[in-house]
Amino acid sequence: MRYSSSFLALAASTLVSAAPTRLTRRAAADVLVFQFADVLEQLESQFYSQALSKFQDSDFTGAGFTSSQVPIEQFKKIQQDEATHSTVLQSALASFGAKPVTTCKFDFSSVLTDVATMAATARVVENVGVSAYLGGATLLTDPVLLQAAGSILTVEARHQTILNVMNSGTAIPSAFDIPLAPNEILAIAGPFISGCDLGIPANPSLSITNTGTPAPGTLLTFKSDAINGTVPEDKLFCQMMIGGAGTSIPLPLSQCVVPEGINGPVAIWVTSDGQPLINNVRDRATSQLVAGPTYAFIDTEPQALGQLVKSSSGSVAPSNNAGTGGAPSVPSSASGSATTQTISPEAASSLIASASATATASDSASSATSTPAVAPEAAPAVSAVPSASAVSNAAGAPPAAGAGPNLATGPSADGAVTVNGWTNV
Ligand SMILES: *[C@@H]1O[C@H](CO)[C@@H](O)[C@H](O)[C@H]1NC(C)=O
Repeated sequence: MRYSSSFLALAASTLVSAAPTRLTRRAAADVLVFQFADVLEQLESQFYSQALSKFQDSDFTGAGFTSSQVPIEQFKKIQQDEATHSTVLQSALASFGAKPVTTCKFDFSSVLTDVATMAATARVVENVGVSAYLGGATLLTDPVLLQAAGSILTVEARHQTILNVMNSGTAIPSAFDIPLAPNEILAIAGPFISGCDLGIPANPSLSITNTGTPAPGTLLTFKSDAINGTVPEDKLFCQMMIGGAGTSIPLPLSQCVVPEGINGPVAIWVTSDGQPLINNVRDRATSQLVAGPTYAFIDTEPQALGQLVKSSSGSVAPSNNAGTGGAPSVPSSASGSATTQTISPEAASSLIASASATATASDSASSATSTPAVAPEAAPAVSAVPSASAVSNAAGAPPAAGAGPNLATGPSADGAVTVNGWTNV
């Protein structure tokens, strides 16, 4: 680690000074958020450590990087950041009188098969980091801890940009990012984690099974243990969310086509009704959730920057869904050209595309929403080309006002804090 111990002491003390002198119920919610964030930082740090020890210079150049030094420099620095985040979060937890969760094991063997798959997964990992801190922001009760978490979030966003470039995507694809709740984060990250109990139920994982790179027009196909006929598939919907949109774009599962006008990450859920999901984690109704989310990256605007870094961008082949390879149950997906054309990231992309359509639909839907998402005006910026007429059909129905019971956040009658699956925090 490049940081001096004195730096760590300083950073830790900044967090520590924010700690309440005694644990309260509210502080306990803060503790849970920090414990969860620390596990994600451990995951990220481990991911890069394992990747850097597995792949050689020739693996990077073989994957199309113009110089192995370019990705390796960045991945090393990112790994150091994540390790530092974990160290400081654990120091803060100790100052709270709380223990970090240190028993988790992380298995990335399914995504460290080749550099293209690894880099695509790193992109998912960084988007997950950003989404997790954004979602966590609604849960923290102490504004100083919120500020501390924000100081990590901004750095995760830089990592995210680097990984966009490394994957031949747009460096900064959207004016807004997507917040996800802890149980949603675990739908994506959970398959890599074992051996520890975070006390947070994970949503069922969802994978995109398309073999090509999703693009506008791609019909997305999915796999999940929760898509098993319990709810007939013709009663299921995909829900695509893009940053800044008020709500998701719902489409019948069999017509889950990536809309025109999307560029960047799309979060995708499968639900058992067509009510659009609200784009904030506090009010997002989850009672009809079947699986997800997963991420897709729709890279419709390749940039010169990415081409400088990687000569062969393998992420543009506009292939459609061609059956599934056994989709890794995780955020797999290689946008890499060469070897493995897996799924998730790209599938995610296509989902994103769909999301843009949702953005259009959300203009009307969000007006019916009690809590409009961040910036409804951001949606038009996506210049979504509404694709399927089904979109407007499904999105026409206003989302359930307020949150479903599952989504309640905040003190309940008995004073316990309930956060989307976290009870008695
Ligand atoms: C099948 O899916 C339902 C939800 O749709 C889920 O509750 C159930 O656990 C699933 N069954 C299996 C065996 O995964």
